[in-house]
Amino acid sequence: MNAPLLLRDVRLPDGRAGQDLLVQDGRIAAIGPALQGPADVEVIDGRGFLLSPPFVDAHFHMDATLSHGLPRVNDSGTLLEGIALWGELKPQLTQEALVQRAQAYCDWAVAKGLLAIRSHVDVCDERLLAVEALLQVRERVKPYLDLQLVAFPQDGVLRSPGAMANLKRALDMGVDVVGGIPHFERTAEQGAASVKLLCELAAERGLPVDMHCDESDDPLSRHVETLASETQRLGLQGRVTGSHLTSMHSMDNYYVSKLIPLLAEVQLQVVANPLINITLQGRHDSYPRRRGMTRVPELLAAGINVGFGHDCVMDPWYSLGSADMLEVASMGLHVAQMTSQAGMRACFDAVTVNSARILGLQGYGLAPGCFADFVLLQAHDPVEALRLRAQRLLVVRRGQVLSRMAPAQARISLPGEPPRTVDWLRP
Ligand code: FE2
Repeated sequence: MNAPLLLRDVRLPDGRAGQDLLVQDGRIAAIGPALQGPADVEVIDGRGFLLSPPFVDAHFHMDATLSHGLPRVNDSGTLLEGIALWGELKPQLTQEALVQRAQAYCDWAVAKGLLAIRSHVDVCDERLLAVEALLQVRERVKPYLDLQLVAFPQDGVLRSPGAMANLKRALDMGVDVVGGIPHFERTAEQGAASVKLLCELAAERGLPVDMHCDESDDPLSRHVETLASETQRLGLQGRVTGSHLTSMHSMDNYYVSKLIPLLAEVQLQVVANPLINITLQGRHDSYPRRRGMTRVPELLAAGINVGFGHDCVMDPWYSLGSADMLEVASMGLHVAQMTSQAGMRACFDAVTVNSARILGLQGYGLAPGCFADFVLLQAHDPVEALRLRAQRLLVVRRGQVLSRMAPAQARISLPGEPPRTVDWLRP
């Protein structure tokens, strides 16, 4: 077990300043001003900076990450060319390369204070290479990162021959969550049938559900309604997540006024993927061009838990990204115009506490008894952290320091003035 740790003088996301945090046996033992630790305690000075629970990514594709350019780049930049490109890459994948890329991404994640990721893994491949690779990575990173896997039939569980059998095999192998992609099935009817079948499978096996659902600009893509209704029918309340839900952006307002209360009633959880949604949606529009992200403020106002996901980093769909969930939250608040102080804090929650709830993480948070997992940010509050995509000064898991980063600052020398340091923090 790690030695006790005393973190002095930090600020908490709720605004409490001048707090100390005592860590013993991998858990938070106490939080308060001027705490005393045991004789052998290691003391770290937090210098008044913000201490946050770790970032959590509620939606990612770790099997595709860091494959950008293989075998070619996505010229049109569309979702459908991305899916076609992934199809070209699949036969060339090796387990070794998959593990290597996923492992490299996990290193990036840790350094950015991202310590829990729900990743979809494509099961439309007889060999289930990606499933095997990510199960191996899940095991390897277990001591420092929670990796949760979703069995994701990228080519459609009904449309792609053998997909349902492969999906079941993936679950037998230990994949944690049932996925789906109803809007990619051949017809709306088959999409609805796929939702029904996959929810029944999850109910049978006692597993959660997380479906790519209505990732489309088509206002008539309404599979989320079936997802909610199946959740109700099978008693899956609180265990089902709808990812993307971008068609909701374009739906008729009257219809949405009925839909959102239905989602709240069955405790459906929602994941938006701001970077990818703003990049991929509205591609068939001229002007005005729709943003395409789901209705985040309205869902939150209805009491629905909304998390944000990174979705893609350097893969067939998106050539950018660096495991920075503050970048994701920043894009989310811009796209949703959540620029009030409360709105920005809600976006910070979407990449921390809300996503932790979607993953069902136990012992998450900054309270006595929780796991000693946290990130010290070079910022004084969540809004400043978002503005600066603050440097992760310290990343701690179960009381052990996993990563340290030097503060972001520049030394400027202006004509006729003594050199001084700039760090972009509010003076
Ligand atoms: Fe996705």
